[in-house]
Amino acid sequence: MRSTRAIINLNAIEHNISIVKQLAPGCKIMAVVKADAYGHGIVQVTSHLSQIDAIAVACMDEAITLRNAGITQPIILLEGFFSDDELAQIIEYNLQTVVHHEAQVIALEKLAQKYATDTTRLDINEVAKPNHPQFQLIVWLKFDSGMHRLGFDDAGFIDAYQRLQGLGFISTINPMSHLACADDIQNPMSQRQIQLFNQVTTNITGERSMANSAGVIAWPESHYQWIRPGIILYGCSPMIGLTGSDHQLIPVMMLASQLFAIKSIKPGDQVGYGSAWTATRETLIGVIAIGYGDGYPRHAKEGTPVSINGKTYPLVGKVSMDMITVDLGEDFSGKIGDEVVLWGDELPVETIAQHADTIPYTLLCGVTSRVKFVWNN
Ligand SMILES: Cc1ncc(COP(=O)(O)O)c(C=O)c1O
Repeated sequence: MRSTRAIINLNAIEHNISIVKQLAPGCKIMAVVKADAYGHGIVQVTSHLSQIDAIAVACMDEAITLRNAGITQPIILLEGFFSDDELAQIIEYNLQTVVHHEAQVIALEKLAQKYATDTTRLDINEVAKPNHPQFQLIVWLKFDSGMHRLGFDDAGFIDAYQRLQGLGFISTINPMSHLACADDIQNPMSQRQIQLFNQVTTNITGERSMANSAGVIAWPESHYQWIRPGIILYGCSPMIGLTGSDHQLIPVMMLASQLFAIKSIKPGDQVGYGSAWTATRETLIGVIAIGYGDGYPRHAKEGTPVSINGKTYPLVGKVSMDMITVDLGEDFSGKIGDEVVLWGDELPVETIAQHADTIPYTLLCGVTSRVKFVWNN
């Protein structure tokens, strides 16, 4: 059987959370598990997150998946609701929402008006109705401090804050913002964003949130009451040029496969599609059962390290859909069937990302369903 596997070490997540707590002591943690927990399995990962205060997802489907799996912790929709219909689901599934746009404020105002006059229209349970004394919605109001993707400018932020404050069913408005360049400690942008966030929230109550993983590591002034770590939980460094072990993090995913063919070639022989690599000496080519059909990056360059029996060998030739080829050298002592690690503890995914001109996020999120996932405690 093809043994291409993603082995997820759930205990490493616990360890990484303890590092996050050391980096941001006293802060509440909103663990970011969007995109299937960065490719690690949203239900398996979230079920294992006991030491955190809330969970952040990108969209309703992710939130519902978690509620249906029995997750009871607070869940925040990082991009808010995409349509008015989703407001009913926010209530039904007891979610918190980011509000980043005027259209969302208007939708909330309309909801308030509707329930001021008609308490029967929402077909969900009694407690979930906005006019019910127990119903309270927590919103995270997003300020655009410079990323210019989501959020209100200064005036829009204050205006939205005041309007939401007037809606009876909104119990809490927490200001939030997002850092654009926190992975680069030389870049003055983060400092500017923090300053602007401080200014706009001076007279505003609510618990503030700004820091992603890079903010947690490099920008303590961005920690406020709530941090929102994502990639760091999975054992990766968000910082330019660093790997998880530089912060004592443990990689959560190991992508592994096996060597399933060894071929002897002569000088001048060419390997793979496009005959893109030519041998300059006699050597052995190892063929490994992983390719872009599994999420191994198609653009991994010649020389990308691949680990076999604890030693690294260079990728040669182009990555195919189901296979890659490595130069084993003349004296290779391993054999067909040997385990191969594409990334994991012994080979940081950050290193592979660098060789493929991408970021570790895309590699982790990109492992396909053809790969067998194994979750270990
Ligand atoms: C709003 C928001 N907060 C936090 C995060 C977590 O970022 P990171 O994985 O870099 O920690 C993300 C991820 O993109 C995000 O969109």
